[in-house]
Amino acid sequence: MRSHWNNIHTFFFIPTTGTHSGCSDACTVYKRSTLPVFKAHGMAQASISDCVTETFSAIRTVRSFGGEKRQMFSFASQVLSFQSSGIKLASFKSANESLTRVAVYISLTALYVLGGSKVKAGELSVGTMASFIGYTFTLTFAVQGLVNTFGDLRGTLAAVERINSVLSGAPVDDALAYGLERELKQKTMDDESYKLVLSNISTENNQKNYLHYMSALKTSSNLCNLAWSGDICLEDVYFSYPLRPDVEILNGLNLRLKCGTVTALVGPSGAGKSTVVQLLSRFYEPTRGCITVAGEDVRTFDKSEWAQVVSIVNQEPVLFSVSVGENIAYGLPDEDVSKEDVIKAAKAANAHDFIISLPQGYDTLVGERGGLLSGGQRQRIAIAQALLKNAPILILDEVLLFV
Ligand SMILES: Nc1ncnc2c1ncn2[C@@H]1O[C@H](COP(=O)(O)OP(=O)(O)O)[C@@H](O)[C@H]1O
Ligand SMILES: [Mg+2]
Repeated sequence: MRSHWNNIHTFFFIPTTGTHSGCSDACTVYKRSTLPVFKAHGMAQASISDCVTETFSAIRTVRSFGGEKRQMFSFASQVLSFQSSGIKLASFKSANESLTRVAVYISLTALYVLGGSKVKAGELSVGTMASFIGYTFTLTFAVQGLVNTFGDLRGTLAAVERINSVLSGAPVDDALAYGLERELKQKTMDDESYKLVLSNISTENNQKNYLHYMSALKTSSNLCNLAWSGDICLEDVYFSYPLRPDVEILNGLNLRLKCGTVTALVGPSGAGKSTVVQLLSRFYEPTRGCITVAGEDVRTFDKSEWAQVVSIVNQEPVLFSVSVGENIAYGLPDEDVSKEDVIKAAKAANAHDFIISLPQGYDTLVGERGGLLSGGQRQRIAIAQALLKNAPILILDEVLLFV
C-alpha cells in the first residue's frame, strides 16, 4: 500500500518540483507587474477623496464663482480613472484566478487518468484512490485560498508603500538634525565629552538617536522661561517653499522681535509676511539662517514643545464644528477649561457681546468650519482662543482683515 501512495505522490509532485524555478520566475514577474496596478488603483481612489474634500472645504469659493460644473467634471474624470484602474486590476485578478483553476483542473484530470489506470491495473484500491481524491480537493481549496490571500497581500503592500512614502515626507527629524548638526559643527571642540559624543555618532542611525537625545536635553531646559524673557531673532533667514524651491521668498532677512513689545510687519500682498508667521510657528524651517529665542536656535527644541509657547491667529481661521465655547476652550486642548476663563478670554478678544447675542450664547454651534459665523466673528473667536492659551509669543496674521 505504501508503495502505491509513493507512486501517486510521485506523479503528483514531480511536475511541481520540476517547474519550481519556473514558478519562482513567474512569481517575480507577477509581483512586478501587479504592484503598479494595485498602486495606481489606490492612487485613483485617493484622488477621488482629495477631489471631494477639496471641493467641500472650498464650497464658498465654488458657489461664488459658479464652479459647480467644473468640480463635477473633475470628480467625474477621477471616477473614470478609478473605474479604468479597477478594470485593469480586476483583469489581473481574474487572470490569476483562471490560471490557478486551469492548473488545479489539469492536476485533477491527471490524477483521475493516472489513478484510474493504476486502479485498473490492480496496483491501487478504489478506496485509496477515493481518499486521495478527497485529500486533493482539500488541498485545492487551500491552494486557491493561498493564491487569493497572496493577491490581497499585493494590495496591502502597495498601500503600506504609500503610507510609508507619506510618513517619510515628514520633515521633523531632518530639520532637527540639520539644526543640531550645524550647531555641533560650529562648537569649538575643546570639550572632551563633545569629541567623545561626536566620534560615536558616525553612523546615520546613531546620529539620529543622538540628535533626539539632544533635543530632549534642550527641551528640559525651560523653553517657556526663555520665550517669556528673551528676544526672538531671525538671523540671515533665506526661505523657499518646498513646492517651489526655485523661488526665494525670504532673502537674508534679519529681524529682532523684542521681548515685551509689539512688532508690526507691514508690506504689500505677497511680500512674505505670512511666510514669516509660518516660520515663527515652525510649520516650515528656514532654508538657510536660523531663528533664535534668547540666543538659542529654535530647531534645538521639540516642535510640540515650541507649539506651547506660540499662539497664532491666522489670516483665515477655521473653527471646529462644535459650540462657540468649545472652540474657545480649544486654546488649551488638554485642560478642563472653566466657563469663567472662556468668558474672560472672549471679553478680552471683544467677542463676548456678539456671542451672547447668538441664539444659544456660548453653546451656539458654529457649523462646518465655522461657516455659520462671519469672517470677523471667526477671527474674534480665534483671538479669544489664542488669548486663553496665554503663550509668551502671540502672532496675529492680518487679524483686522474682517473685523
Ligand atoms: N505654500 C506655498 N507654496 C509656495 N509658495 C507660496 C506658498 N505660500 C505662499 N507662497 C508665496 O510666497 C509669497 C509670499 O506669500 P505670503 O507670505 O503669504 O505673503 P503676504 O502674507 O505678505 O501677503 C507669495 O509670492 C506666495 O505666492
Ligand atoms: Mg498674508
